[in-house]
Amino acid sequence: MGPWFIEPLAHDDINDVLALEEASFTNPWTRAMYLAELENCSVSFCFIARNADRKAVGFCSFWLVVDELHINNLAVLPEFRRTGIASMLMAFVTRKGIGLGARRATLEVRRSNEAARLLYEGLGFAVTGVRPAYYSKPVEDALILWCEGLSDSVR
Ligand SMILES: CC(C)(COP(=O)(O)OP(=O)(O)OC[C@H]1O[C@@H](n2cnc3c(N)ncnc32)[C@H](O)[C@@H]1OP(=O)(O)O)[C@@H](O)C(=O)NCCC(=O)NCCS
Repeated sequence: MGPWFIEPLAHDDINDVLALEEASFTNPWTRAMYLAELENCSVSFCFIARNADRKAVGFCSFWLVVDELHINNLAVLPEFRRTGIASMLMAFVTRKGIGLGARRATLEVRRSNEAARLLYEGLGFAVTGVRPAYYSKPVEDALILWCEGLSDSVR
């Protein structure tokens, strides 16, 4: 289905990211949140995947906190799932993070989100803790995952 192109988020891309959020999450981030992220560019990074027609098919955002990569959001348009886009985005942001000095990575995932858990576990993440009732709509625990030795995960 590719090729896919990965680009950093710009102001003009926010509508595309909001559409991806709406299609993927019950509690999507808002325009104001993404505008604030764009202002915080020493810490906050976001990348969009597009197809050859420039359709936005997925995105991934993260914060760099000293030597830690905090993955905040990852989503792929439903009709483009299971084609490797999330894996490609994760590999891309991991390399980007390593280049910026990250040595380990963390993220949270709904306990019931088996697709995401399988994806992350396949990339070397392991469950290390639980934040009870962390999510709303519906209320659900967050599993905390970490990937130690980040550079090994993209070899
Ligand atoms: C989770 C999500 C990002 C995966 O995106 P994707 O582009 O479909 O993932 P990939 O095609 O790269 O899949 C890589 C691997 O992850 C696992 N995986 C992904 N989706 C899966 C599913 N629905 N069921 C089982 N395993 C799945 C598989 O191991 C898959 O490898 P395979 O296709 O060779 O079996 C996508 O389903 C999504 O956007 N979901 C809604 C938003 C979300 O939950 N984001 C994560 C928040 S923490």
